[in-house]
Amino acid sequence: MCGIVGYVGSRNGTSLLVDGLKRLEYRGYDSAGVSLMDGGGIETRKAKGKIAMLEAAIGSMPIQGNVGIAHTRWATHGPPNECNAHPHHDCSGTVSVVHNGIIENYGPLRAMLKKTGHTFVSDTDTEVLAHLIEAAFDDNLEEAVVDALALVEGTYGIAVICSRDPDKIVAARKGSPLLIGLGEGENYIASDVAAILQHTRHVVYLDDGEMAVVTRTGYRVMDLNAQTIKKRVNRIDWDLDKIEKGGYEHFMLKEIFEQPQTIQNTMRGRSVDEDGFSKLGGLNLSREELQHFDHIIITACGTSWHSALIGKMMIEEHARIRCEVEYASEFRYRNPIVSEKTLCIVISQSGETADTLAAMREAKRRGAKTLGLVNQVGSTIAREDDGGIYLHAGPEIGVASTKAFTSQVVALALLTLKLGRLRTMSVVQGRVVTQALEKLPEQIQNILDRAGEIEKIAAAFTDATNFLYLGRGFNFPVALEGALKLKEISYIHAEGYPAAEMKHGPIALIDADMPVVFIAPHDSVFDKVVSNVQEVKARGGRVIAITSRDEPSLDGKIDYEFRIPETIDMLNPVLSAIPLQLLAYYIAAKRGLNVDQPRNLAKSVTVE
Ligand code: AGP
Repeated sequence: MCGIVGYVGSRNGTSLLVDGLKRLEYRGYDSAGVSLMDGGGIETRKAKGKIAMLEAAIGSMPIQGNVGIAHTRWATHGPPNECNAHPHHDCSGTVSVVHNGIIENYGPLRAMLKKTGHTFVSDTDTEVLAHLIEAAFDDNLEEAVVDALALVEGTYGIAVICSRDPDKIVAARKGSPLLIGLGEGENYIASDVAAILQHTRHVVYLDDGEMAVVTRTGYRVMDLNAQTIKKRVNRIDWDLDKIEKGGYEHFMLKEIFEQPQTIQNTMRGRSVDEDGFSKLGGLNLSREELQHFDHIIITACGTSWHSALIGKMMIEEHARIRCEVEYASEFRYRNPIVSEKTLCIVISQSGETADTLAAMREAKRRGAKTLGLVNQVGSTIAREDDGGIYLHAGPEIGVASTKAFTSQVVALALLTLKLGRLRTMSVVQGRVVTQALEKLPEQIQNILDRAGEIEKIAAAFTDATNFLYLGRGFNFPVALEGALKLKEISYIHAEGYPAAEMKHGPIALIDADMPVVFIAPHDSVFDKVVSNVQEVKARGGRVIAITSRDEPSLDGKIDYEFRIPETIDMLNPVLSAIPLQLLAYYIAAKRGLNVDQPRNLAKSVTVE
C-alpha cells in the first residue's frame, strides 16, 4: 500500500528519496511524487504510474534540496493520476504533505476550508491536511500539525515539510506505520524500513498518537499534547540482499526457493525432539495460563487466514481446545464471545494489516490474551500483542505470500505442540510431530529440485480461464490458498472448495475446459478424495493431482501428477502448498504478467 520516505541532511535528497521509493515498490502503488525544499521554496514532481515515470518527470525538470518527502500512492480517494498523487500542498505552496491512511471526515473539513477561502486541486482526502496545517500555522510547524490533527478523524501516517519552518520534517502516526531512521548528521522518515536500510540500521518506531520532529542533528518524539516520549532505538539485523532478487527473475520465485531455509529459521531452537515439546520464549504466558485457556480464536486476513484454518485443525485435533477462525474484518465489527479464558491468536506476515490489528485490539479490549504470529519484526501487531512467535522468514517482497504461509503453518504446529503437551498429547505423540518437522526442509528441497515438472504442467494451462482447487481435511485450506495464489498473480478465476462439497454446486462447472487441481497426498481422507476425482473425471474435467505415492486407485483418472514427500497429516500443507505456489508462478510468468506487483493489490493492507 502507500509508502512514505523522508530525508533531512546535507546531501541532495532527490535520488536518495527516489531510491527509497523504489524499495517500497513491492507494496503496490499507482503513482508517485517527491517534494524538496529547494532554495527557500518547495518544489514538487509527481507522476502517474511507475517510479520510472517520476524519474522522467524529474529528469525533464530537475529539483534538488536536502530536506524532502516522497510517496508512492495506492488510490483510495480519486483515480490514480498526477494531480491526486502525493505530496499535496496548501494554497500558498508553503506546506507539503504525504499521507498513508484515510481521513474519514475529509468531506466536512473540505467544505469548511473552502468556505474560508481555500482552493482544492485534487480529489484526495489528504489535501485537507495541507490546508488545515496552512490555516493553523503561526511560526512553528509541529504546533500547526498538532492543531490540524486535532480536527481529523481517521487514520494516518504523515510526513510534512514547510518552507516557513524549513529545517525539519514533522511526522505523526495514527493507525499507519511510520519510523525514524537515525544517521550521522542526517535522519530519515519511512513507512517501511526497507526504504532506508541502505543508509541506517538504527530506527525508532512511532506508536499511535505519537508525532516526531526530525532534523539533521536529532529527533524528538512527543504525544499530541507536546509531552516528550522516550523511545527505544532498534537495530535492524537483516541485510539488504534479503530485499534483492539474488539472480531470480522475480521475488516470488526467490521466496518460494528460500523455503527450506525459512522453515529452518522458524523452527530454530524451538523444536525439542527428546521431549516431543516446543520452546517458545516469546509467548509471555506461564504454564498455568496456557493450561487455563478453554477457547481459542484465530483471526487474520487472506493467506494468513488460510494458515489459521490449518491451525484450528491442528489445535483441536492435538491440543483438544475449542478453536474458531474469524476473518479479522468481520471479527472487529461483531459481538464475539470472548472471556478471560479466551486466547486470541492473530496471524499476519506484515504485522500491519489494518483489519487484523483492529481485531486484535478488540479482542484485548474484551479481556482476551493475544498472541501474534508475525513475520515483520517491530511491526505494530508485534509491538502491541501480549506475546508472540516471530516467523523469522525474512522480508517477503512478492505481493503473493509464499514463504510466510509455510512458516505460519510451522509456527502453528510448534504452538500446537506446546498446548498439546500441556494437555493430552503424550511424549510419543509429540515426538512424531517434532521428527516430522525436522524432515521438512529436506522434503521441501526435494520438491523444489523438481520445479521443472510443475513448469511443464503450467505450460499446458497458460490459456485457462477458470480453475478449481479441491482438497479435504488439512488440505482444504491449501485448496483455498492455491486458488488465491493463482487468481492474485495470473488473473485467472479460481476457486477452492472442500473436495466433497463440489457435488453441491461447483460440479455444474465441470467440463473439458475446467482444470481441477486435487490436493491428494496419502492421508487419512485419501480414499474419500479418490471418489471426488472419479466424479470430476466422469464429467470430462482435466485433473492435476498432487499425490505422495504410487496410487493404483488413481490409475486412468488423472491427467497430470506431481508427487510430494510423505509427512504426517497436519504438516501436509507445508509440502502440498509449494507445488501450487510454483504452478501459479509459472502460469503468471508465462502469461508475461507482473508477478511481484499484481494489479490492484498491495503487500500490506493498511486501510479497512
Ligand atoms: C497473500 O498472497 C495476499 N497478498 C494477502 O491475502 C495477505 O495474505 C493478506 O492481505 C494478509 O496480510 P498479512 O499477513 O500481512 O496480514
